[in-house]
Amino acid sequence: MAFETTALGKWTRAGIAAIGLGALAVPAISALAMPAEEPAAPAAAEAPLTEAQMAESKALFSQFSCGACHALAEAGGTGHIGPEFDGNEGIDKDYIVTMVSNGQGAMPSFGGMIDEAQIEQLATYIMQVKK
Ligand code: HEC
Repeated sequence: MAFETTALGKWTRAGIAAIGLGALAVPAISALAMPAEEPAAPAAAEAPLTEAQMAESKALFSQFSCGACHALAEAGGTGHIGPEFDGNEGIDKDYIVTMVSNGQGAMPSFGGMIDEAQIEQLATYIMQVKK
């Protein structure tokens, strides 16, 4: 059947391509056997925000009324509609970014209202100042 022939042809070509790739991989493997290069530096810890970035994030926190629903003493947030951030061990930066971008239940979505870089910075800020 034509389909099978074509499919077989495809697999054969794929096989030949794989062999070709294998040949290409040999120099790569010998490169690995070369004397060790400098070990990769460990991923740097999140850089602390500058004072200007802190101020900017704090302003965002009040501009978008986060504090009306969430307690975060450093930013003047006293709300209790959503979970408080002070003393909250269950949040990390990525989770905050997701919640702020997408919302959930009574938590509004701010994606499209606050730009991505600012959401990231706001999340870093919250993690940095929460008690
Ligand atoms: C109208 C009230 C309201 C506003 C304004 C609001 N949130 Fe929320 N937020 C909530 C509620 C309610 C939840 C809980 C949602 C759920 O669990 O379904 C929540 C959940 C969260 C969570 C997850 C907390 C956890 O412990 O799981 C984060 C992080 C968060 N909000 C960040 C923010 C930030 C940052 C802002 C401002 C940009 C903001 N929220 C503005 C009501 C609000």
